[in-house]
Amino acid sequence: MSAIIIDGKATSLKLKEQIGQRVQSLTSRGIIPGLAVVLIGDNPASHTYVKNKKKTCESLGMRSDLLQFPETLKEEELLEVIEGLNKDPEIHGILVQLPLPDHIDEFQVILAIEPDKDVDGFHPVSVGNMIIGREAFLPCTPHGIIKLLEEYNIDPAGKHAVVIGRSNIVGKPAGQLLLQKDATVTYCHSRTVGLIDYTRQADILISAVGRAKFLGKEHIKPGAVVIDVGMNRDENGNLCGDVDFEDVLDKASYVTPVPGGVGPMTIAMLMENTLLSAERGLP
Ligand code: GUN
Repeated sequence: MSAIIIDGKATSLKLKEQIGQRVQSLTSRGIIPGLAVVLIGDNPASHTYVKNKKKTCESLGMRSDLLQFPETLKEEELLEVIEGLNKDPEIHGILVQLPLPDHIDEFQVILAIEPDKDVDGFHPVSVGNMIIGREAFLPCTPHGIIKLLEEYNIDPAGKHAVVIGRSNIVGKPAGQLLLQKDATVTYCHSRTVGLIDYTRQADILISAVGRAKFLGKEHIKPGAVVIDVGMNRDENGNLCGDVDFEDVLDKASYVTPVPGGVGPMTIAMLMENTLLSAERGLP
């Protein structure tokens, strides 16, 4: 039997339509949700991501300010920029595109963003609130994964979820959100011994490794839900995930494609966080 392909593009379009309607209703009350995106240097991937974020904001009627700086920007200067955005009442969300140049301390930058405007969900206050299940901006990619599972009526409760990857942006929070949905969670990473012994036990397998076609059908349990967060290039230069999509199709029950799976959900969740931040000020 062939797996159901989880359509992140269609799901994100549906979400964006709802977000657009809420933006309109806020705008009619005089509030335009505003996102500031800070981009430093000329990493081509970062430029592409930022361009997509700006385009999506504008298509939904939200304000989007792109603040671009050269690689040589000093940390103190960046902190001052963030301070200005923290105080700007027309800016509801602040996103500093990562990675940052080596001379800038990423943690200090994340710490400088007002938690009320931390639409990436990277500030320690946001992370702490997320882990204890309090209201918080949830990090966009893991939140997008949860939304996809909801959309396809996949309930993580009682399931064994195996997360490969332990980044602060994806792996760690994805495991935490699945735990909150009552999954039993195992984290695997680059130092895990015998990775396949874990992946084969996964009812829900989340891969955030960053290696093209790293996982094949031998890694998965029959009927597993496979969520591929990888964004890689294959030997022909084509975009592909961590999972050999074709190979797992007749063994998984659900699988996300790359592109068109988790990726579009990340931007939709960023838009939702910015909207939520703007809605918070309402009486
Ligand atoms: N770089 C890659 N992914 C992200 C993200 O989700 N947020 C930010 N700020 N930078 C990133």
